[in-house]
Amino acid sequence: MPYKITLSTRDNQDFSFDCEPNQTVQDAAEAAHLFPPFGCKSGACGTCLGTCDKGEYQLGEYNETTLSKEAFNSGDILLCRTTAQSDLHINVPYNADSIQQTLMPPREAEIISLDTIAERTMKLVLQLAEDPETGFAFEFESGQFVELEIPSLDLKRAYSIANISNWEGRLEFLIRLQPNGQFCDFLSHATLGQSLLVHAPSGAFVLQKQSTNPRCFIAGGTGLAPFMSMLRHMADWAEDHPTHLFLGVNNEAEIFCQAELTQLQQSLPQLTVEICIWKPEQNWQGFVGTPVNAFKAYLDNNGANCDVYLCGPPILVESATEVATIAGIAKENIYSERFI
Ligand code: FES
Repeated sequence: MPYKITLSTRDNQDFSFDCEPNQTVQDAAEAAHLFPPFGCKSGACGTCLGTCDKGEYQLGEYNETTLSKEAFNSGDILLCRTTAQSDLHINVPYNADSIQQTLMPPREAEIISLDTIAERTMKLVLQLAEDPETGFAFEFESGQFVELEIPSLDLKRAYSIANISNWEGRLEFLIRLQPNGQFCDFLSHATLGQSLLVHAPSGAFVLQKQSTNPRCFIAGGTGLAPFMSMLRHMADWAEDHPTHLFLGVNNEAEIFCQAELTQLQQSLPQLTVEICIWKPEQNWQGFVGTPVNAFKAYLDNNGANCDVYLCGPPILVESATEVATIAGIAKENIYSERFI
C-alpha cells in the first residue's frame, strides 16, 4: 500500500502524491508528473532539500557536506534519497511555480563562442536549435541551471546560466576548468559549431521577488554565474534593492567579468561589488581574504537586515551560512546553491 506524500511550498500550496515503500520521494513525485527542483539525484548537490515535520522516513547514502548531521536531526531531508515509512508532510523552500508539471525534452544546441576569460575560467555561449513549437525561445528563471550533455561521451554536467531568458535561444555559461575534469577536457578540444544537448532548466536558487530586503550575493569563483543572471534580470526590471556582491577568487589572474559588472552598476547604482582575493600580489588594493570574511565585515557594519544568496563550493556555502546565522539572519532568508 503506497504512502501519501504532501509537499508544502513556501507560498502555502500543497502537492500530494503516492509513494511506494521502495521509491524515493523524488521518483514518486515525478511518477505523478510533478518535478520538484533536482540536480544530481545522488545526494550530492542539495537542490532537492526539504524539511519533514510529520512521518517516518529513511535516507539512503548522501554527502554529509550537503546535509549536515544537525540539519538531518532537525528534519532536513533530500527528496532524491528519502524513502517513506509512513505518510509524510514535507516543507520545501521554494514557491509552487518551481514545481514543473512537465519536463521539457532536451534541446540541441551548438557552440557559438568559447573563450578563456581568466585563469582556469571559460565563457561558453550556446545557440539553441529552433524548436517546432517554441521557436528559439528558452524560458528559465535567473539563478537556475541546466544540464549539458555530450551524448557521444555519455557525459552530463550541470551549470548555472549566466544570462537571462531570451527569445534568441542564446545561453551563456561561466565554467571553471577543473584539472582532469571530463567536461573541461571536452571544452579544451571543442570547436565552434560543435553540438550538444541542453536539458530542461531546474533549481530553486532564484530571486525572492516578494522581499524588499537588501540582497547580499556571495560567490566563490564561477559561482558568479547565477548572480550575473540575477543582476541582469534586476537591471532589466529596474529593481532597486540595495545589493552587495562579494566575489571571491584566489589571485588577480582569476578575476573575470569585471567589465560586465561595471556596466551593470550603471543600470543598478545601488549595486556594490567587492572583489575578494585570498592570495593577492603585493600591490592589490582591494579586500584581502575570502568573500565570507568580507560578508562578515559587511554584517558587522550594516546589521543583518538582508536576504543572503550563496553560490560556490560547499565550504563557502557552509561558512557563509554560519556567519549569517550567528548574525541573526533567519534560515528562511538564506538561499544557496552548491558546486558539486
Ligand atoms: S538532486 Fe538530491 S541531492 Fe542532488
